[in-house]
Amino acid sequence: PDPTDPQVVWHQHAVTRELREQQSGHRGFVLWFTGLSGSGKSTIAGAVDQLLFAKGVRTYLLDGDNVRHGLNAAPKMLSERYGDEFAQRFGLGFGKQDREENIRRIGAVAGLFADAGVATLTAFVSPYQADRDAVRASLPEGDFIEVFVDTPLEVCESRDPKGLYKKARAGEIKGFTGIDDPYEAPVAPELRLATAEKDITSLADEVVQYLRRSGKIC
Ligand code: PPS
Repeated sequence: PDPTDPQVVWHQHAVTRELREQQSGHRGFVLWFTGLSGSGKSTIAGAVDQLLFAKGVRTYLLDGDNVRHGLNAAPKMLSERYGDEFAQRFGLGFGKQDREENIRRIGAVAGLFADAGVATLTAFVSPYQADRDAVRASLPEGDFIEVFVDTPLEVCESRDPKGLYKKARAGEIKGFTGIDDPYEAPVAPELRLATAEKDITSLADEVVQYLRRSGKIC
């Protein structure tokens, strides 16, 4: 319940999380991949998603670019329909506060998926420790599994799959993570994936083994 708003009251439904998890045959949880743009978050999360799905685990992958097309659309995507003022207020870009709100909304959605007994994977830069910690704190104990996709900036920049690092270096994009905007590496992640040393298959295996060890899946 939100004590600041007496009109909004939490409702307990008959089909509980426990029942949903029983039906799923595994726990609900949030596997939170964080790392620089081009670090391999989406690729590794996608590979884990495939492995889990093939084992019959109920999964869903929330991915940065996709979510920014809908729930967290940019102001210019909203302005035609709602007008500029509304679009500026609710649309999201890459400023610090916008990223914070991006992560807050995704954390809330991921929490709903976990509550539905789903193995939820998220792949967002999520550059600020405080924002990731806030998601962790908002979820039931043990639900949030922070996975640091640890790829050096030089490697991400040499890959540059979308040509964004080049634009950031040329000053065409301002506030690009790792170039002229910070990335705060996780202080105590549950998992750190040293991507430069291993291939995608073994990294994905590493994640699945962690989930087994911690009792999230069988
Ligand atoms: S954040 O920081 O968590 O809110 O970012 P996220 O929603 O994951 O979006 C990151 C992707 O958007 C592209 N992009 C930028 N990234 C970082 N900084 C700036 N300024 C920026 N502008 C656009 C970038 O390609 C990220 O994609 P990925 O898939 O991470 O490479």
